[in-house]
Amino acid sequence: MAFAQNLVRCSIKAAVSKNHFSLAKTASNFGAYQLSTQFNSLQPLRTFSIGSQLHQDVNVTFLRANGQKIQAKGKVGDTLLDVVVNNHIDLDGFGACEGTLTCSTCHLIFKVQDFEKLPDKASDEELDMLDLAYELTDTSRLGCQITLTKDMDGLVVSVPATINDARSA
Ligand code: FES
Repeated sequence: MAFAQNLVRCSIKAAVSKNHFSLAKTASNFGAYQLSTQFNSLQPLRTFSIGSQLHQDVNVTFLRANGQKIQAKGKVGDTLLDVVVNNHIDLDGFGACEGTLTCSTCHLIFKVQDFEKLPDKASDEELDMLDLAYELTDTSRLGCQITLTKDMDGLVVSVPATINDARSA
């Protein structure tokens, strides 16, 4: 609480050339910085905030090949590998290389509509590793390469019945 109170008092103001530049952190937007720039008296004050989406929960369901559904929560910015690890989900062998893109054990299969909305396409390195995964589909990705966004809330991904640890090939 004392930390938060100190942040309320924290205010930094600096003059940059002819413009007025101020950076302030207030209790009302604790966790988010507000930056304002006033170029001249005719230009309105402009503000924006960052960090407000971090820490938002994202619900993810892992669907095993036997039909079992495992529901889990992640945070915006987590990878799907993080979700498995942080929720202590028992997927045998999953994430063996801990996200270093050398094993393919984090292979997951997306629904077409979810796959098409993924913000990032697979890199060449990910595609090379996916080639070594068992049960590869057109909507396969590696869970360690998928970072959760707010829009992914409610995502359902299928876990293949078999995994291949490319390091043991
Ligand atoms: S955890 Fe090994 S490639 Fe994703």
